[in-house]
Amino acid sequence: MRKLIAGNWKMNGLRADGAALARDLVSRAAKSPPSCDLLVCPPATLLAEIGSLLAGSRIALGGQDCHAEPKGAHTGDVSAPMLKDAGCAYVIVGHSERRQNHHESDATVRAKATAGLGAGLIPIVCVGETAAQRDAKQHLSVCGGQIAGSLPEIAGAGQLVVAYEPVWAIGTGRTPTTTDIAEVHAFIRAELKKRVANPDAVRILYGGSVNAKNAAEILGVANVDGALVGGASLDGASFWTIAQAAG
Ligand code: PGA
Repeated sequence: MRKLIAGNWKMNGLRADGAALARDLVSRAAKSPPSCDLLVCPPATLLAEIGSLLAGSRIALGGQDCHAEPKGAHTGDVSAPMLKDAGCAYVIVGHSERRQNHHESDATVRAKATAGLGAGLIPIVCVGETAAQRDAKQHLSVCGGQIAGSLPEIAGAGQLVVAYEPVWAIGTGRTPTTTDIAEVHAFIRAELKKRVANPDAVRILYGGSVNAKNAAEILGVANVDGALVGGASLDGASFWTIAQAAG
């Protein structure tokens, strides 16, 4: 399966920074197109502008979250049809920073993923255990519970991406061993087999401290169909090295 390298810019970048990074990625893509799919997920304020800069390139645009409702009295929220309208093809839902900081439940994440599908977006549903859960050897049951509760029920082939992001690996510089990554990704694949029509078409991304140095090793693990990259996606050269490691 062609891998997907997705950059999650999180709450980083003013207009000038975002535009400079997008231009840098577009010029790299024109010079040496990687043999993977590419996605950037900028903050909501930059979506429309980055979308126009990416137009005609092979780099897709995604949102970092969406509301479950298409419109209405939800101050501060952004809906899935708004993301689509801004040029997005994907939306990240259930990132651990949303689950923790905004108390999002599995049911909320499922509603958001379903809203994304309804608007014609491909949801990237994030799951992953905390350090305490990993220490208690609950990582599989935690990820299994999140998959059972957060995956949209109507996902068909190619319409869904799952990201395994151990919370303790995000932004910490710590990553699981390749054996640990392989264990969870194989488990997620097996869970998908129980739930979706075409489980082998669902890309399972690894996320959490992926960088230019460790990308090749992580992307070489079985059932790792790409990466969700935070910090290292803010640097064009690092993101490009990761993208090339996916080819
Ligand atoms: P990180 O973030 O690469 O900075 O660890 C990954 C993520 O949270 O998606």
